[in-house]
Amino acid sequence: AQTDKELLYKIHEIANDFYQNQLFKTEEGKSIGLSYFKERELRNDTIEKFQLGYSPENKHAFTDFAIDKAYKKEILEKSGLSIFPENAPKGIDRFRGRVLFPIHSFSGRVLGFGGRILNNNLKTAKYLNSPETDIYHKSDVLYGLNQSKQAISKYNLCLLVEGYMDVVSLHQNGIENVVASSGTALSINQIKLIKRLTENVTILFDGDAAGIKASFRSIDLLLSQGMNIRVLLFPDGEDPDSFARKNPQDFVRNFIEKEAKDFIDFKAEVLLKEAIADPVKKAEAIRDIVKSVAFVQNALKQEVYLKEVAKKFEISEQTLFNELGIQKQIKQ
Ligand code: GTP
Ligand code: MN
Ligand code: MN
Ligand code: MN
Ligand code: MN
Repeated sequence: AQTDKELLYKIHEIANDFYQNQLFKTEEGKSIGLSYFKERELRNDTIEKFQLGYSPENKHAFTDFAIDKAYKKEILEKSGLSIFPENAPKGIDRFRGRVLFPIHSFSGRVLGFGGRILNNNLKTAKYLNSPETDIYHKSDVLYGLNQSKQAISKYNLCLLVEGYMDVVSLHQNGIENVVASSGTALSINQIKLIKRLTENVTILFDGDAAGIKASFRSIDLLLSQGMNIRVLLFPDGEDPDSFARKNPQDFVRNFIEKEAKDFIDFKAEVLLKEAIADPVKKAEAIRDIVKSVAFVQNALKQEVYLKEVAKKFEISEQTLFNELGIQKQIKQ
């Protein structure tokens, strides 16, 4: 007999075929889903590479299909793909009227989906994701890892972005070493997945307040796992997807290569944007940067970074070492 987990993998495989079929083979899918992807300039080969799909507006479409295939209510409910409200005669699809991004495991099995609404009317969440299930633990999965793992190894570098569309769009533009944490804060297990392939990460977050906040948090977590990091913030209002669409491939690659800064320069730039002359702000910024240095996992690297801070801010190394000691004690 099949275990629940095997059944959950199987039903996601079936669902993935179903949603891709809806996108390419039905009038609704073509006129709504496919034209949405075309508006966002995705090519068919990209859509197929990421197995993107469309969930129809009919709220029973997938559930009825699966029941017809003899899948039981219990397993459909466990998969998160169907909801069975009390007193309702029939199950309801979780994903309706959305374009879908299947989320794959490292080895390529479908574990769940992220679904985007088609218009930007924000009556409902822009993205809806599969819930946690027996096979999908969102903090253990990186979107795009299955499609990107070879390029990450080849370039010995992993680009980290925020969204599904950023991963897909960079791939289409020839940059294939990229993953997203997608809808969740970066986790230690996600970093461990990257570390199997490379110790080098370049953070490419959106140039908005949320992106800056997420990058600060991610910097410390990545440093604590012994990763080497560089950071690039896109101009405000841009993300890797919009930037990759506006600019030629070689330019994007060069831009990332040239503009990504080490975490010290990055934090200094963000924290001191307008306040370089204000001594109080400057001291707070230095302390904030030393806090990140305290997460670096290697004493030699820590010293090299502190020397960089000393030089940059014209502060004595001794003062910075004292501050580092204080920050390390606070962390314990
Ligand atoms: P597009 O508008 O399609 O380009 O999406 P985006 O990826 O640029 O969106 P944004 O920068 O706003 O968010 C980045 C990522 O956060 C998305 O790809 C999603 O994974 C996640 N996210 C955004 N909005 C929501 C939401 O409303 N709910 C959930 N659960 N996740 C979201
Ligand atoms: Mn995210
Ligand atoms: Mn954003
Ligand atoms: Mn975007
Ligand atoms: Mn974005």
